[in-house]
Amino acid sequence: MAAAGGAESRRAAARVAVFPLPFQGHISPMLQLAGALHARGLAVTVLHTAFNAPDPARHPGLDFVAVPDAIPETVAPNGIAKILALNAAMEASGHVRGALASLMAAAEGETRRLACLVIDSTLTAAQKAAAGLGLPTLVLHTGSAACFRLFRSYDLLHDKGYLPSTESNLDMPIEELPPLLVRDLFDPSKLPNKEIGQKILNLATETTTNSSGAILNTFEDLEPHELRMIRDELAPKGIPPFAIGPLHKLIASTDGGDTSLLDQDRSCLEWLDAQAPGSVLYVSFGSVIHVTQDEFTETAWGLANSGKPFLWVVRRGLVLGVEKQELPDGFESAMEGRGKVIEWAPQQEVLAHPAVGGFWTHNGWNSTLESIYEGVPMLSRPVFGDQLATGRYVADTWKVGVLLEGVLERGEIEKAISRLMDENAGVEIRGRAEELKEKVRMCLESSGSSQQAVDKLVGHILSL
Ligand code: UDX
Repeated sequence: MAAAGGAESRRAAARVAVFPLPFQGHISPMLQLAGALHARGLAVTVLHTAFNAPDPARHPGLDFVAVPDAIPETVAPNGIAKILALNAAMEASGHVRGALASLMAAAEGETRRLACLVIDSTLTAAQKAAAGLGLPTLVLHTGSAACFRLFRSYDLLHDKGYLPSTESNLDMPIEELPPLLVRDLFDPSKLPNKEIGQKILNLATETTTNSSGAILNTFEDLEPHELRMIRDELAPKGIPPFAIGPLHKLIASTDGGDTSLLDQDRSCLEWLDAQAPGSVLYVSFGSVIHVTQDEFTETAWGLANSGKPFLWVVRRGLVLGVEKQELPDGFESAMEGRGKVIEWAPQQEVLAHPAVGGFWTHNGWNSTLESIYEGVPMLSRPVFGDQLATGRYVADTWKVGVLLEGVLERGEIEKAISRLMDENAGVEIRGRAEELKEKVRMCLESSGSSQQAVDKLVGHILSL
C-alpha cells in the first residue's frame, strides 16, 4: 500500500507539456495522448499555436497555453512548407522557450515539476527550446511503425538505387522493407520543391535522435515485425519506443475525445439509421489532401453508377482551388436517394454505425486506425506521404482492403467498389477485418499491450 501511495503522490507531482503540429491529423492523436496521460494521474499542459487552436472547453482536465506562432501570411495554410515556416518562426521568436520557462518556474512554486515536453515529430524548434532549458523531450509519431521505419531509410533507399524513382522501377519490391514497392515511396524528387520534401522527411529522424523516447500510435499485433525492428534499433541508443495505439480508443474519458477542428454534420447518423446493415460505403479523404476537378467528377459518377448507398464527405477546399464544390449536373437525380453528401462527418461514429460496410479512404493514419478499430474494410486511394505505404499494408499485409491505383476513372471505381462491397467478392476481406477488430480490442484491455505500454511510458516520464 505504501508503495502505491508513493507512486500516486509522485504522479500528482509531475506535469507534462505537449506540443502538437497544428493539423487535424496531428492534433487529434496528441490530445488523445494528453487525455491518456491525465487519466494516469499526470498534469498536462497543451501548448498550441493560434492557427488551428484546439478548444479548451472540450478538454476540461487539460491546461492550455497559446504560443504565438508568427507564421507569415504568405505561407499556404495546409502545405507542408507550413511545417518549416512554423519551426523557423518559433526558433526566431523564442516564444516556445518562454512558455516552457514559465511552466518550469510555476512548477517550482506548485511542487509539480515539469518532467518533459512531448512534441510532434516534426517540431524541431520546440525540441531545441526544451533542450536549451535542460528539459527532456519525447516524440509522438502520428503515423504507422512501418512509416517510421520507412522515413528513417531514405539514405539507404538512395544508396540502393530505389530512389529517385523512374517510370521503369515503380513495381520493384523494396527488399529491405516488404511489402513496399518503389511506387509506395514518397519521393521528394517528384515534388515541385524537392528540398522542402527532403527536409520534412529528415525532421522526424532528427527529433527522434535527440529525444528520450518515441511514442507510436500503433499496436503490437498490427505491426509486430516493424516494432521489433524499431526496438532493436532505438533501445541500444537509450531511446525506448512505446506502442500505445490506437490512441483514439485508449481511454473512454472525454479529455482526449472530441478533437475535431470542424463542425461535424450529425444529420448523417439519422440517415445511416435508415440504411440496411453493412450496405453503405463511407467516403472521406481526411483534412488535407486535394483532388482535381476531373478526379472529383470521376468519383461522383463512380459512386452514382456503383448502385451502392454511400455517404460522401466533400469538405470545403477538397477540390484544388475551389472553396465550395458543386456536384456535377444530373448527379443528384442519378443518386436516386442512395447517397448523402456532407461537408464533415462525425467519422468515428459513422465508422461504428452498423449500416457502414466499407470505407473509401486516403489512408491517413488516423482514418486507417479508426477503420481497423471498427472492423470496416477499406477501399484505399492513398495520395502522398505516409498514406502510400499504409495503402500497401492495408491491401497486402493486413489484407483488409482493396487498393485503387492508377488514373481515377469511373469504371475502375465501380469495379473496386464491387470487389469490396459485394456479398461474395468481399467476404474474405470482411473476415480479416473482423479478426483484426478482435485483436485491436484485446490490446486495449487492461492487460493488453497498449495499456501496458502506457504504464511503462508513465513510469519512464516519472524517471526523467
Ligand atoms: C494527415 C495526413 O494526411 C496523414 O497521412 C497522416 O497520417 C496524418 O496527418 P489527414 O489527411 O487529416 O492527416 O488524415 P487522417 O490521419 O485520417 O485524419 C483525419 C481525421 O479527421 C480523422 O481522425 C477523422 O476521424 C477526422 N475526420 C475526417 C472527421 O472527423 N470528419 C470527417 O469528415 C473526416
